[in-house]
Amino acid sequence: MRVLVIGGGGREHALCWALRRSLRVSDVVCAPGNAGIAAIAECVPVEQTSIFDMLRVVHAVAPSVVVVGPEVPLAAGIVDALQGEGVRVFGPTQAAARLEGSKSFSKAFMQRHGIATARYKACASLEEVDAALPGFNLPVVVKADGLAAGKGVVIAETHAGAASAARELMDLGGTLVLEEFLVGEELSFFALCDGKNAVAIAAAQDHKRLLEGDLGPNTGGMGAYSTDALLPDGLHEQLLRDVAQKTVDGMRDEGVPFQGILFCGMMLTADGPKVLEFNTRWGDPEMQAILLRMETDVMDLIDASIDGTAAELKIAMKPGASACVIAASAGYPAGAEKGGFLHGLDAALPAATVIFHSGTALQGDDVVTGGGRVLGVASVAASLPEALQAAYAALGNIHFEGMQFRRDIGHRA
Ligand code: AMP
Ligand code: GLY
Repeated sequence: MRVLVIGGGGREHALCWALRRSLRVSDVVCAPGNAGIAAIAECVPVEQTSIFDMLRVVHAVAPSVVVVGPEVPLAAGIVDALQGEGVRVFGPTQAAARLEGSKSFSKAFMQRHGIATARYKACASLEEVDAALPGFNLPVVVKADGLAAGKGVVIAETHAGAASAARELMDLGGTLVLEEFLVGEELSFFALCDGKNAVAIAAAQDHKRLLEGDLGPNTGGMGAYSTDALLPDGLHEQLLRDVAQKTVDGMRDEGVPFQGILFCGMMLTADGPKVLEFNTRWGDPEMQAILLRMETDVMDLIDASIDGTAAELKIAMKPGASACVIAASAGYPAGAEKGGFLHGLDAALPAATVIFHSGTALQGDDVVTGGGRVLGVASVAASLPEALQAAYAALGNIHFEGMQFRRDIGHRA
């Protein structure tokens, strides 16, 4: 079987890596891919914001199935376009992807269906923001409505700070969401959905802040780990039943069946788990860690989601732990220095350790930095300390100008 993956980050490198291990997959093509993906799959250029260009690539590649990695092509409606042409495709339709693409939609949806989340107010103008702000305690969370690549959330310590954040975020989307600040541990919970049923895959913990000790600006994620211990005592059943399945049921009832990955960004508060946000795709870097633990053929997940057979699927994970540590460019997340040479990529790796490329490019035969997040070094082992030790040992051999990474991934475990 020939599979086309759309995307070009660490998540897509991990997906291509997992697809290459599937006994049913003969060929993996990735559009656009990156320098690391090019070592294991054929890479073809594509414009991920253009349905027209993605269709051009799909017709040229003629895959048996298309797997969409990032949120941007999902929100643009690539799944609808491909379904319209009878192409098998993994991921939610444009209307279903609004669970991620519009915070005001997803908050109202959660309210309609009794899914626990932070109290909120959607505001269509700055006047509405000013009128609503006194009703929120401090700190207050201000969110842009639309996709913002991790830059659409401000936690404001004063009402004046919230008002000025609202002014800036308004430019991103037009609508804003004001939200009560939640306190607790964050958890990323992943479910496979087929329109009717949700099946738990695993949980992971991301490290969103740039600096050690969870300080500094928010990023797309500087590292993640996954263990079964993240889902103790019934939490697994609770998140599956009260969040993921309720969401799938609600979307179906509203005539917008949800297929693909439902990524539930949770806060485990003293009042129980509450949804911070939904994403409608695999997380990056969470998925690099989770795919290393997954024993089930990733093609089984993709087929079950498309064919509506998720309820029959058992997803098996290795019992130990996995971790992924991101190495980022100087200037990330505000900007990114590109074009620096990567050294040490061919050093021997510890057992069960993989280097996934997030933002790299080929310059002749050399691999150079091509984005903010450059690499994710992931490892799976019997315990989290062993997985982290292997990932950091592998990272120790790698160097590029301005390389930055957190040395404390997994510190909350
Ligand atoms: P989001 O993109 O909605 O996941 O927000 C990005 C990050 O902002 C989350 O991972 C949290 O760390 C933080 N955050 C978002 N909403 C809240 C909230 N209501 N309370 C506390 N922290 C939040
Ligand atoms: N790591 C968070 C995300 O993929 O959105």
